[in-house]
Amino acid sequence: MKPHQRTTIQELIKKKVLNSDDFIEKLRAGNAGMLLIGNIWCFDYAISHLPSDSPIVEIGSFSGLSTNLIIYLKSKYKQENKVICSDPWDFNAGHPEEKIADHPYLTCQDYSNYIKENFIRNVLFFSKHDLPYAIESNSDTFFKYWEKGEVVQDIFERSIKLGESISFAYIDGNHSYDYAARDFENVDRYLEIDGFILFDDSSDKSDSEVCKLMEEIIESNRYEVIKKAPNYLVKKLSHKK
Ligand SMILES: C[S@@+](CC[C@H](N)C(=O)[O-])C[C@H]1O[C@@H](n2cnc3c(N)ncnc32)[C@H](O)[C@@H]1O
Repeated sequence: MKPHQRTTIQELIKKKVLNSDDFIEKLRAGNAGMLLIGNIWCFDYAISHLPSDSPIVEIGSFSGLSTNLIIYLKSKYKQENKVICSDPWDFNAGHPEEKIADHPYLTCQDYSNYIKENFIRNVLFFSKHDLPYAIESNSDTFFKYWEKGEVVQDIFERSIKLGESISFAYIDGNHSYDYAARDFENVDRYLEIDGFILFDDSSDKSDSEVCKLMEEIIESNRYEVIKKAPNYLVKKLSHKK
């Protein structure tokens, strides 16, 4: 996509989709990441309508762009909810010493270390006042800890007891159907009524497997679609029977 074809934050502001915010532009320019612009609106809506002070959970943090955005919007709306995120920062595919494509010396392990260091540096810079609890694990392990109510150490060596209700979850880890469906089931078990889930890569126009999951969730009639921007932001209406 050519730069002039991209939707700018200013255009969304004009359409009254977003409130003007210079900080978000600075964050997007300074913090590497993969944030679709419509997700900003979804975060803004969910965080300004949180049903309680229960934790916000993020699956898949990469370099911390969405994490920092969530924390910024929390402070904007004076929300006290803890942010707890899970990412294994493992881009090795089982071959840590393998070079990245044709690069002369960078290995997959170098890349994994680099992205994790970026996350640490980015959250320490943009969100030092309200650091997320960042758990280095895949989401399956993370939710096993959650189910057991375990006390775990985050990457900043702080302890946190998992297992509370969840008020909002951003699901942006592995986007294949099986992983996304498990992430949804795990979140759904703890999500409060009137709590939100934003699914990355769920747009009707995407060919991602997350779309199949969205159809199933809508068919269940337990979630209301708040926005397709173009990713789905949904609100929980009822618990699973
Ligand atoms: C698309 S990136 C996340 C981008 C980030 N949310 C942002 O907006 O900048 C996906 C991330 O999910 C992580 N990931 C992949 N599989 C995962 C899993 N099973 N559980 C948790 N995180 C996972 C990857 O390590 C990667 O950092």
